[in-house]
Amino acid sequence: MTSLYHVLGAKQFDRVTLEELFTAASRMEDPKNWNRNPYYFNKIMTTLFFEASTRTRLSFDSAMNRLGGRVMGTENAAQFSSTIKGETLEDTIRIVSGYSDVIVMRHTDIGAAERAASVASVPIINAGDGAGEHPTQALLDLYSIQKERGSIDGLSIAMIGDLAYGRTVHSLSYMLTNFKDIKIYFVSPENVALPPYVRHYLEEKGVAFAETENLMEVLEKSDVLYQTRIQKERFPSVEEYRKTEGRYIIDRDLLASMRKDTIILHPLPRAGEISVEVDQDPRAAYFRQAQNGLYIRMALIEKCLAGNR
Ligand code: CP
Repeated sequence: MTSLYHVLGAKQFDRVTLEELFTAASRMEDPKNWNRNPYYFNKIMTTLFFEASTRTRLSFDSAMNRLGGRVMGTENAAQFSSTIKGETLEDTIRIVSGYSDVIVMRHTDIGAAERAASVASVPIINAGDGAGEHPTQALLDLYSIQKERGSIDGLSIAMIGDLAYGRTVHSLSYMLTNFKDIKIYFVSPENVALPPYVRHYLEEKGVAFAETENLMEVLEKSDVLYQTRIQKERFPSVEEYRKTEGRYIIDRDLLASMRKDTIILHPLPRAGEISVEVDQDPRAAYFRQAQNGLYIRMALIEKCLAGNR
């Protein structure tokens, strides 16, 4: 079995580790496997969220509780921790390390998870660092693709929307390099195109990809549509945001043009880019995807704590 300690970015995952996590996540889908290992009964996970979250924070909370461990933390660390008094992230992490066995952190700054890990004495899990990465989202995205489509090798995946600020796209792109014969279509307006550093990594790893502004061009060729929210809060100006608003909407008309076996994923929350009329279609897999976050995070906590034994 492989082990993990810090979870900082998607590039640190290899195929063997991913497959072990998927197998463990699948085991976690059965409630009979919850809350059975006394090892967790005295373990504490702290969640430090300097940015808003519903799914990531609560699914991590739920995951640790379901394993039998305990959870503490703050959903608004920017306001309700001593950060507001001027304490540095490094000092906060040094202190919280002494109270916890694992820290799950979301922060506004790219690279914050690495900074935290450099002073932590327990594993740090990056739950999103600004417009940087969201590696645990990529884990649940891939687990969902495998469940929905049977395998990941050989698939064509269209990532749509805000590819510049959308950290889930960066992590998912990196993690997909572990699979064979992948083709990625990046669909976005020019002002939120994929950052060059992600493009270069895919080139280095020999992953086939293409960039376009036209979703209809790639619709028929895609096995997975990975829709994303335009990250309004990260734009330098409202004018810049308006150039992208409403550009790609998955609605009933688009569904009619889609293949019957193409699935729709979205890391959520959505902000109008998937119409609610799509939700009842069996190809709409995004709520099942969010549920998978619980199982994969149970598997991930298990692996991180095992590495710390
Ligand atoms: N997908 C995701 O990160 O959702 P939250 O922002 O609600 O955690």
